[in-house]
Amino acid sequence: MTHSTDVLQQEIPGGETASFRPVVDRYGRRLRYLRISVTDLCNLSCTYCNPVKGCAATHPHKLSWEELEFLVDVGVNDLGIEAIRITGGEPTIRPGLVNWVRRIARHGLHDIAMTTNGILLGRMARPLREAGLKRVNVSLDTFDGEKYRDVTRGGSLERCLEGIEVARQVLDRVKVNAVLLRGFNDHEIPDFLEFSQRTGIEVRFIELMPIFGQKDYFHRHFISVEEIKERLADQGIHLETEDGGNRTGYGPATTYRVVGSRARIGFISQMSDTKCLSCNKLRMTSDGALKPCLLSPKEIKLAPAIAERDRDTVAEALRHQFLIRAERYDALEALNDPFQRSMQAIGG
Ligand code: 5AD
Repeated sequence: MTHSTDVLQQEIPGGETASFRPVVDRYGRRLRYLRISVTDLCNLSCTYCNPVKGCAATHPHKLSWEELEFLVDVGVNDLGIEAIRITGGEPTIRPGLVNWVRRIARHGLHDIAMTTNGILLGRMARPLREAGLKRVNVSLDTFDGEKYRDVTRGGSLERCLEGIEVARQVLDRVKVNAVLLRGFNDHEIPDFLEFSQRTGIEVRFIELMPIFGQKDYFHRHFISVEEIKERLADQGIHLETEDGGNRTGYGPATTYRVVGSRARIGFISQMSDTKCLSCNKLRMTSDGALKPCLLSPKEIKLAPAIAERDRDTVAEALRHQFLIRAERYDALEALNDPFQRSMQAIGG
């Protein structure tokens, strides 16, 4: 099964050279990117992430910071992983995050990014920047304070916006993630465009996924990127692709510029048009399960091997989970086959 490839050399900071065997699957996709959930706890409880309040199981066992650093070390040095995205739950609520970022920043990664709800960014963006974090994606689904409180089950829009503002001042790049929810924020698209125009922040609209068997919620609120694009066109708002529609960064978005404006928007349409063919990532849950895809139930429980610092087993598991990935995953199948984990427990 293993696709044999030549050993590659990669320069790492300090003038040294690491050699590793890149992992390339039979569709030509190369493992470059690891999403690591550092906790499955969250200080909010968004309805699309947890349709039933309190349904997210939390796992007492989480990998220690030392263990997570070991994982990064194996990924970078043995397999050529270039980029890490830190997710949760909400990563900023786990004590020790800043120190950990400082430590993994020494491992020669090209990119360290984080997905966050922004609530704690007001005070954490600066220390995280100094530690080596380059970019954040902040979840923000509405500009209406009351609706924000509803969708997050208690969060403060003001604090989120304040966090975004500080992050914008200190980090290389900030993006906003808005999950598209019919009847909730689909009429706020112009507000998001205005926000992007005013701040220069790219807003990415994400199609709702039926994670955790959320059938009713999904049918009530799903709206496709296609429909949003049609509505924009009807309103005389035109989009032009950037770099011929090429993706920026390591993520699955297609980005556009709004014609005649500074606004930039991205669409993540994993329901109607997956980006599986260019996907280069694996996911690690906070309790140490390695997943080939958000949409795959296949997990390898790696916590024991990581606890023993068993380099070969960890590297082999990363390689294996990457190579077994299907050519495509169909998020709709999730409707008939509910996952055991909520988004919060996988790492959104
Ligand atoms: N569908 C689509 N995206 C989701 N997220 C969480 N739950 C869902 C869902 N059901 C995404 C949001 C958030 C990130 C952490 O995970 O975009 O920004």
